[in-house]
Amino acid sequence: MNKCTLLLLTALSVAFLTQAQAQQPVKESQGFYQFLTDDPNQKPFYSDRQGVMARNGMVASAHPDASQVGVDIMKKGGNAVDAAVAVQFALAVVHPSAGNIGGGGFMVFRNKSGESYTLDFREKGPLKGHKDMYLDEQGTPIPRLSTLGHLASGVPGSVDGMVVAHERFGKLPWKDLIQPAIELAERGVIQTEREARGLNNIRETIQQVNKGSTYFLRSDGREWQAGDTLVQKDLAQVLRLIQKKGRNGFYKGKVARMLASEMKKGGGLISRKDLKAYHSQWREPIIGTYKKYKVITMPPTSSGGVALMQLLRLVEPYPLTRWGWNTDSTAQVMIEAERRVYADRAKFLGDPDFVDVPVDKLISYDYLKDRWKDFSFSQATNSQDVSGGAIAGYESMETTHFSVVDKDMNAVSITTTLNGGYGSRVVVQGGGFFMNNEMDDFSIKPGVPNMFGLIGNKANAIEPGKRMLSSMTPTILEKNGKLYMVVGTPGGSTIITSVYQTILNVVEHGMTMQQAVNALKFHHQWLPDKTTFEQGAFTENTIRKLQNRGYTLEMQRNTIGRMDCILVRPDGTLEGASDPRGDDISIGY
Ligand code: GLY
Repeated sequence: MNKCTLLLLTALSVAFLTQAQAQQPVKESQGFYQFLTDDPNQKPFYSDRQGVMARNGMVASAHPDASQVGVDIMKKGGNAVDAAVAVQFALAVVHPSAGNIGGGGFMVFRNKSGESYTLDFREKGPLKGHKDMYLDEQGTPIPRLSTLGHLASGVPGSVDGMVVAHERFGKLPWKDLIQPAIELAERGVIQTEREARGLNNIRETIQQVNKGSTYFLRSDGREWQAGDTLVQKDLAQVLRLIQKKGRNGFYKGKVARMLASEMKKGGGLISRKDLKAYHSQWREPIIGTYKKYKVITMPPTSSGGVALMQLLRLVEPYPLTRWGWNTDSTAQVMIEAERRVYADRAKFLGDPDFVDVPVDKLISYDYLKDRWKDFSFSQATNSQDVSGGAIAGYESMETTHFSVVDKDMNAVSITTTLNGGYGSRVVVQGGGFFMNNEMDDFSIKPGVPNMFGLIGNKANAIEPGKRMLSSMTPTILEKNGKLYMVVGTPGGSTIITSVYQTILNVVEHGMTMQQAVNALKFHHQWLPDKTTFEQGAFTENTIRKLQNRGYTLEMQRNTIGRMDCILVRPDGTLEGASDPRGDDISIGY
């Protein structure tokens, strides 16, 4: 072959590649879309769902009734915080596996003037808790004690969080925000197939830990079916007290007595003193930049914000857009970033009221440059060689996230949880709501994994009144000084990497918000040293290339993430994007 022919062939193959890339099998449905993969036949999305467009307000949440409640509140003149409060209480009714008044969470709020705030309403360890409370006399963890039953619960923070958020930023009367949840609880919620299955799956454990009857078990003894209605009269009564008395309706008086007596009956530790003492905490948001974007995210007690900033900054020097979505080089730098960041998470992060967390250092470019020194494109780093501290692992998939933007561009990003699906499975007698099993997010013994494989260390050891470490990553992005994106998801330790990928899918790969949510995802968390991925997240070619460089890849049956996000498009339209992996729905107006 002479030189001329070679040049011609090269030019043709470049032209062909450009053509192939331009012909990716993805609908250019919403105007700006441009990502590349190395296999034009690869379908990179979990589904073809399209985003929901609106101009005046948007709620993306795990349940259509909750999203509708948020929109109705905004239509009545409420702002994004009012809507978020109403959505939180509505989710406690319509999405009892994760929506809650018996759990906790985090809120990131950016107001229309660009000021941002973060609220930590994470649960706390009970005052009578201590570091060895889940160990037997030999120092061995007692199976399931931190996950199932009364001892598994931390002191709930959600009600206080909502009261505090509303007092500072709400516009509508408190009572108006609780009313829709009361009505949903009294009228009943029609169960989807997924919800019916969820309740059927926990039947035995409900019976095991609850002595009396509960409406989460059908009174006729049969299993739940799609189309059945779940009425929650006791919860409606509790919500009425919260409606009337605010914080005192939950942390004092009748509900506090019911909760404390439930705990006493079942050997739990939460007392009326714990409830009275609980207070959520405003914290300084983590604010950093990634290229031209400002990232506003949650500081500790969540590890999410620190980890997200580290992940973004570690890959910032690389041309991800040019390399393309989930190609070997893109995936490799993202996996290596995840490996290092999760090692740091295990070593350094815990409740900042109890341990000194070096947030600024961890997200600084100097530190991250040093962290990257042993990276090589030719070979995977061995996780055993990545110093960090104790080993991180899996957390629960059951948490819930919602995003709200109002007509003035006030934006709220809230992730809230009971930890495991339906928490500790304890239903407060007379109160009709599930308690969390968040104590399992503490490190119950250094080096011993919890039920999801999570291993921690001293920074996250149990102490009375301390908050357990979280991975929840409610986040807001700005572009050119304006609101750009509101993101978040459930998914335990995969929360951080799902948020990370979703952001990069939009800002690097030109996806719409919904495409970024639909896009198939992968996850690495330092240990175990493997990358799990949703089927189709990598092409065969990419899998081969990564394996040749020493990466262990494992396709997983479960999906990753259940995102609920909002993007402000260039013309100011809000694009609501809820994850087709769940029953999640965005509603706008
Ligand atoms: N319980 C899950 C988390 O807080 O990360």
